[in-house]
Amino acid sequence: MTVKKVIVAGGGVLGSQISLMCAYAGIDVTILIRKEDSEEQTRTKLARYAAMMLQDLDQAELFLGVPEEQAVYPHGMIRDWKDLNRDKLAQMIGDTRQRCHADLRIVNELSADLFQDADFVVEAVTENPEIKTDFYESIRNLLPAKTIVVSNSSTLLPSRFAQHTGRPERFCALHFANTIWRCNTAEIMGHSGTDPEVYRKVVEFAEQLNMIPLQLHKEQPGYILNSVLVPWLAAGEALWVNGVADPETVDLTWKVGLGCPFGPFEHIDVIGLDTVYAINKMKPDAQVEGSTIYRLNQLLKEKIDRGETGVNAGIGFYDYRNTRKEK
Ligand SMILES: NC(=O)c1ccc[n+]([C@@H]2O[C@H](COP(=O)([O-])OP(=O)(O)OC[C@H]3O[C@@H](n4cnc5c(N)ncnc54)[C@H](O)[C@@H]3O)[C@@H](O)[C@H]2O)c1
Repeated sequence: MTVKKVIVAGGGVLGSQISLMCAYAGIDVTILIRKEDSEEQTRTKLARYAAMMLQDLDQAELFLGVPEEQAVYPHGMIRDWKDLNRDKLAQMIGDTRQRCHADLRIVNELSADLFQDADFVVEAVTENPEIKTDFYESIRNLLPAKTIVVSNSSTLLPSRFAQHTGRPERFCALHFANTIWRCNTAEIMGHSGTDPEVYRKVVEFAEQLNMIPLQLHKEQPGYILNSVLVPWLAAGEALWVNGVADPETVDLTWKVGLGCPFGPFEHIDVIGLDTVYAINKMKPDAQVEGSTIYRLNQLLKEKIDRGETGVNAGIGFYDYRNTRKEK
């Protein structure tokens, strides 16, 4: 099945990026925002991400004929370097300029016309179960029978919404990562009622978008990536909080021992200490005085209060203000 028409609900961070990736793949895409949302804000995001995509594509010229470097190039932009040359690259850049820009179609009203012939609705609205439920209820009677609905939710399982879509068998999660054209993972997770044929079509859709489809066989909070990432971060944090080793030594061990490019604390700096702190505060032991997570949050809070929230602030566990040096 070749997907031709997609409606992306939500013009935020992920909605903008998914829409641009649809446009990049030559798919007719419309962004659905709420009446109270600002079209201008979405257009600003589209312009910013489109510029980043084009910048990456411009740099591809440096990678032509250097296969060992191509492995680290944003895979969502170019998957196949085999027959790529300067002329073809120039053509791709021209096509991208035409397709990916701030003027993508944005609508703020629901109607059956909007969804007519839509192959997919990608739900990328606010990560709030009530907001998502209301959204599914609002579109369920407007969709053509053929439309497949997918949720980009990072934390909420599809079974929670399946009945609200009115088409549980044509619904599952399709989870993209931030900076979709670079980190081109697409985790695909059905619920027990997802039709296997629909699941297969979602895998094909992900491939059409230049994503690497990562198939989950059952529901799992955190999908694959966060199910591995979160315990990895927690193990590193525990070594620090319990006085076993300092962050630099934990990172160094991981990098030298396994040949990985970064360790857990360098990654926390990228995520942002405030985000990690907010997530940690929701963990069951967070209020238990003396627990590892309680003490970790105290240490994180001290750093956050000093403005050391990570790469974006210029300082976190490491100092990025000049060339990076260990603190
Ligand atoms: N930000 C990330 O790094 C990331 C990564 C992967 C997945 N996600 C998931 O993507 C989804 C969106 O996240 P985001 O970061 O883009 O959030 P965001 O806050 O940037 O954007 C969400 C947008 O949805 C809009 N919205 C709310 N209700 C709506 C409705 N009924 N119709 C249309 N638009 C509506 C909001 O006004 C907002 O503009 C969430 O489910 C999140 O878990 C986010």
